[in-house]
This record gives sequence, structure tokens and C-alpha cells, in this order.
Amino acid sequence: MEKTLVLVKPDGVAKGLTGEIIARFERRGLTVAALKMLKLSRAKAETHYAEHKERPFFGELVDFITSGPIVAMVVSGENAVKVVRTMMGPTNPVDAAPGTVRGDFALSIGQNIIHGSDSPASAAREIEIYFAPDEILL
Ligand code: RTP
Ligand code: MG
Repeated sequence: MEKTLVLVKPDGVAKGLTGEIIARFERRGLTVAALKMLKLSRAKAETHYAEHKERPFFGELVDFITSGPIVAMVVSGENAVKVVRTMMGPTNPVDAAPGTVRGDFALSIGQNIIHGSDSPASAAREIEIYFAPDEILL
């Protein structure tokens, strides 16, 4: 089955949305295959977001994602990468339709509640940052 990495970002955890987000994936028929709460180190945050290193918002992005606890999970299922991205809504919540996580719970691009891998290749790279192989149980 295809796997993707999902993060409930610090704003999502602080707003108490972790259960709501997990429930949406489960009701859709996706499987939570691994799950943990953690506080990301700057080094791991910079590795995760390496593709954005030269962007003007990189510092703010790393500051934000390391600012508090996050919940990381591996979500698996048929077309999990694309299905999760569709359920998240676009990066900028202003463009996100109601019914999507960002469209229901976020207002600003810098604090947009959730991360999901953007391709199967990204998912494979990102899952390794957060989980050892023996932590992925389904
Ligand atoms: P993510 O990686 O967090 O799932 O989000 P994404 O694929 O929808 O968006 P991406 O382009 O990968 O950007 C990563 C995160 O950087 C922040 N961002 N800020 N200020 C800005 O113009 C800007 N652009 C992107 C967002 O928080 C985005 O989720
Ligand atoms: Mg991205």
C-alpha cells in the first residue's frame, strides 16, 4: 500500500485538532500505520524542509515547526499521498475549500495545521526522518 507522512503541526496540536484529523483519515478508509508525538529539533526540521532552504520564509518555517509538540504519522492506503493532500486543501488556507482540514481550521499560510508528503518519493524520504522501520506497524 502507498504510504505518506502526515504531521499535525504545532498549531494543530495546540488547537486540539489531532483526534479530529486522525478521525477524518480513518473514516475515509486510510490506515494509521505509525504514530508519535515529538518536539522536532532544528536539525531535523531543516532536513525535512531542505527543498525550501533558499526561500525567504525558511527561517520562520523552521521556527514555527520547532515551536511546540507535533504529531507525526504514517498514513497508508490506496493513493494515500494524493488522497491526503486533497483532504488537507491547498497550502494557503485562503484558497482551501470547506471540508478540507485547512479550509475548516486554518487562516494563514504560515500556520496551516497539517503537512502531507507531496509525492511517493517525498514520502519515502520524509518517513525516514521520523520513523525507524520497526515503528511502522501496519
Ligand atoms: P507542507 O510541506 O507543510 O505540507 O505544505 P505544502 O506542501 O502545502 O507547501 P510547501 O510549498 O511545501 O511549503 C511548506 C510550508 O511552508 C510554509 N510556506 N510559507 N510565506 C510563504 O509564502 C510560505 N510558503 C510556504 C507553509 O506553512 C507550507 O505549509
Ligand atoms: Mg510541502
